[in-house]
Amino acid sequence: MDPQEPPKKRIAVIPGDGIGQEVIPQALKVIRASGADVAMSEFDWGADRYLRDGMTVPPDGFAMLGRDFDAIFAGAFGDPRVKTNIHAKEILLGMRFKMDLYANVRPVRLLDAALCPLKGVEPKDVDFVVIRENTEGVYTDAGGVFKQGTPDEIAIQEDINTRKGVERIIRYAFEYCEQHPKLDGSSRSRVLMVDKSNAMTHAGGLWQRMFKEVSGEHPQITAQHMYVDALCMQMVRDPRPFDVIVTNNMFGDIITDLAAGLQGGLGMAASGNIHPGKTSMFEPVHGSAPPIAGKNVANPFGAILTAAMMLAHMGLTREAEKIEAAVREAVRQKKTTQDIGGTLGTREAGEWVAERVTKRLSS
Ligand code: NAD
Ligand code: IPM
Ligand code: MN
Repeated sequence: MDPQEPPKKRIAVIPGDGIGQEVIPQALKVIRASGADVAMSEFDWGADRYLRDGMTVPPDGFAMLGRDFDAIFAGAFGDPRVKTNIHAKEILLGMRFKMDLYANVRPVRLLDAALCPLKGVEPKDVDFVVIRENTEGVYTDAGGVFKQGTPDEIAIQEDINTRKGVERIIRYAFEYCEQHPKLDGSSRSRVLMVDKSNAMTHAGGLWQRMFKEVSGEHPQITAQHMYVDALCMQMVRDPRPFDVIVTNNMFGDIITDLAAGLQGGLGMAASGNIHPGKTSMFEPVHGSAPPIAGKNVANPFGAILTAAMMLAHMGLTREAEKIEAAVREAVRQKKTTQDIGGTLGTREAGEWVAERVTKRLSS
């Protein structure tokens, strides 16, 4: 190897369950077509494996991912045969929590006006990002059930918010705002903190104080606040004012499905689970979608856009841009699956994008 050449990036691929097994192979095809200098290793973690031999994550699995890979590319986890959802919890939330991937970055971008259910909304009007806290909140599953099955049953689900956790995600949002311009090249300028501090005063108070402190260090960025209920209403009335949104784990989960609706549905939404400087994990926002799994109808573009996000994160920006341009062109030409108005299957839509990426390479 030329000593000047950067080392090949190593990607761990975990397709998982349901449509994860259909969309990830399409995204891998597109990554290969982009010419990205990567080595990919696949892992069979998911419901099938769990039902076969009880394994969710092998011992030392997370340490191995962090040590041997530059990024993780995951599909989806969730299978009606595993009622407890234990494998998804251990694999997906395991990566987020045990690898401390504290920033769940979910860009919300409209690629074509035809995809937005709102009237008169164009791509330039929807280009914001949700920075979701990814290691705390109600997702820690702290709490318990007492007197289960009796009329006196008590269920407690604690909302854990640490000063360290809240501060670092707010800081991440401000730094993201400074470092990531919009698609049209203009700078980002606003960070909106979303909470429910009018009802959840203890956790909300901590978020409010940390937001004030960190925003004070970034006077050039406009700091804004909204309650999460009002935000939902605003998002479907007029998404134009949004820029960078920072919020807790649960609210971030919910509003990014809503925001996926603005982009054309869950099949279009990408995400990254990031800890700067550590091996990070990238996955489409959608789940395993059991009703449509195995039918070659799932939209692979969310996974393909996620692949582009992962390549950009690893510094392969040229390849990422080529992939995004090809997806945008596919949407424009309606070379898509049915959920966003086309007639192609999962494989055919993936193939079209891969071919487009290859053509752009040779032209
Ligand atoms: P889901 O995102 O899997 O699907 C909801 C519906 O959205 C689908 O039935 C389908 O109609 C549509 N949809 C989703 N992705 C699509 C795509 N790529 N193309 C076309 N249509 C698409 O959400 P759900 O039904 O609430 O959850 C199903 C399972 O997935 C559950 O077990 C859930 O826990 C799990 N889940 C996993 C993840 C993840 O692994 N990151 C995310 C969300 C849900
Ligand atoms: C997501 C999913 C997960 C979450 C589930 C599967 C636990 O909905 O990635 O958005 O709630 O974070
Ligand atoms: Mn979700």
